Amino acid sequence: MIPESITKKLTEYGQEHVLKYFDELSENQKADLLSQIESTDMSILSAVGAPDALNAKGKISPLKCMELSEIESGKETYTKTGLDAIKAGKVGAVLLAGGMGTRLGSDNPKGMYNVGLTRELYIFECLINNLMDVVKAADAYIHLFVMTSEKNHEATTAFLKEKNYFGYPEEYIHFFKQEMAPATDYNGKIYLEEKGRMATSPNGNGGWFISLMRAGLLDKAKSFGIEWFNIFAVDNVLQRICDPVFVGATIEKKCVVGAKVVKKSAPDEKVGVMCLEDGRPSIVEYYELTDELMNAKDEKGDPAYNFGVILNYLFDVAELERIVKEELPLHIVKKKIPYIDEKGELVKPEEPNGYKFENLVLDMIHQMASCLPFEVVREKEFAPIKNKTGVDSVESARALLQKNGVVL
Ligand code: UTP
Repeated sequence: MIPESITKKLTEYGQEHVLKYFDELSENQKADLLSQIESTDMSILSAVGAPDALNAKGKISPLKCMELSEIESGKETYTKTGLDAIKAGKVGAVLLAGGMGTRLGSDNPKGMYNVGLTRELYIFECLINNLMDVVKAADAYIHLFVMTSEKNHEATTAFLKEKNYFGYPEEYIHFFKQEMAPATDYNGKIYLEEKGRMATSPNGNGGWFISLMRAGLLDKAKSFGIEWFNIFAVDNVLQRICDPVFVGATIEKKCVVGAKVVKKSAPDEKVGVMCLEDGRPSIVEYYELTDELMNAKDEKGDPAYNFGVILNYLFDVAELERIVKEELPLHIVKKKIPYIDEKGELVKPEEPNGYKFENLVLDMIHQMASCLPFEVVREKEFAPIKNKTGVDSVESARALLQKNGVVL
């Protein structure tokens, strides 16, 4: 029996096809599918018709960055302020590891990728090693919150446990799962990933704070005395996490967000750049950067939009609580989505075949009153692993790790 509310919902959103194999399912599978339909937010699907309107930008102007020379001259003060905050337990680290890593194409969570050549060296291990540098300098452990998704939670937690958290104390590691969103074809029809299950994917890295809160970890973090969250991507093996100088500079400059940035390697490099949008901090994605913005110059004659974000931000927790009720814009992203075809067989596409719906952390920056873009040296802190070969790949990250003295 299919409840009327379900039929009504599917008709309203034009998704009746998800019940195509309903009669072939066991009683348990039927119940699971009905409950998945009931709990899925299908209102986001209407975004398929109007992708441009969704991401319209306001008036863009430059945002001053704290560049390397300025950081150098204030380094002593910033380091002290940062280390004091870390020692006092005010800074927590949040690892965003809920993504699917489809471009890398490994079946395992990205953090399980072995970048070693003569020995095992996993991405998760690189990140923990980097965090340990600060733990040693501050002589205090830092709480590490790890965001996973339904798709990779078991594998991630089992792997880290098996590896004994690469020496990090278990009581300082807290896992939470992010939410999922339906995945559709280019006409906005939800794919089936099994006969009794709609295709879903993690709802983007912008959902991290709500998911952390729903998991009860915000209260826990506050009980530990945490006032700042340093969030970072799983795939940058060189990044400094809870970097005292960065933490100290953000605090000293009285900003509610700090954003690590690198000088762009070329005007058309594919990174989001920091700016002001309608007077508030913001990020323009590379595909939104017009020629006019790309060629604009500041008073020194340097490119006015010259600093790209590397997904390493420091957020003031009180401000996060303030903005949590505001809705984030939805991004529609073309991705490869495995699906059940007409014959009921599973297809794993080689090329993008549909849309995923994501909230992005960069949109949270625009909700904040102030932001400090903080320059870091690209060769020392930016080695993202997005692809197997070529740009931002395992190959390029290995070369950078070796350049920084890491034995592979
Ligand atoms: P990416 O934008 O590179 O996405 O994520 P991805 O899913 O890892 O990789 P592709 O695009 O499928 O190849 C940047 C960071 O945000 C996290 C990722 O784990 C990575 O650390 N992320 C992304 C999430 O935590 N959740 C998401 O839903 C998406």
